[in-house]
Amino acid sequence: MNLLQQKIITEGQVLSDSILKVDSFLNHQIDPQLMKYIGEEFAGLFAEAGITKILTIESSGIAPSVMAGLSLGVPVVFARKRKSLTLVDQLYSSKVYSFTKNETNEISIANSYITSDDVVLVIDDFLANGQAALGLIDIVEQAGATAAGVGIVIEKGFQNGGNLIRERGIRVESLAIIDSLSDGIVTFKGENSR
Ligand code: G4P
Repeated sequence: MNLLQQKIITEGQVLSDSILKVDSFLNHQIDPQLMKYIGEEFAGLFAEAGITKILTIESSGIAPSVMAGLSLGVPVVFARKRKSLTLVDQLYSSKVYSFTKNETNEISIANSYITSDDVVLVIDDFLANGQAALGLIDIVEQAGATAAGVGIVIEKGFQNGGNLIRERGIRVESLAIIDSLSDGIVTFKGENSR
């Protein structure tokens, strides 16, 4: 069991059969030491991929992405969910539907931050239905850049996002894959029970 999985077991709260709360280290309070570990793991996994840029989405994707960017020595761009006052350049945008929240966000980045020369690693905190990651991949494709892969902190393997992205031939690396949250118990892929 890796550091992240241990943290999930000790601090994660199973809210239902499909939702895991990890506010104490990822979604609200952030554990910098754990983020450093996560960043180094992503950097190791994609060390040979020629990454020139990391693309994530605000807000919880930013912390692991910055640590991965530090390890790989590349900049990090985060897509905004709301148009900011300063986002006045030409944009790449994609619509992202959230099944969990039943709302659609238009995510955007200024087109100057990703070019056709870039080899992009997409990072996000959770992979559930895959809509956020697919929106980010759409932006990479609009820029004519190369999507080298997707790095996910926690994948919910019982939801369809991982399949949707892997089916497209895109490499997905998840540091923790949860097979089930049934009966309040976290079961990781390849494990019988916690
Ligand atoms: P998808 O992008 O994979 O399709 O996921 P979905 O629409 O279902 O998820 C919407 C938001 O809920 C995303 O955060 C996602 O990270 C988060 N989420 C999904 N499942 C879980 C879960 O089991 N636990 C937790 N803690 N979060 C989950 P977001 O709206 O982008 O929020 P944030 O990045 O600002 O924190």
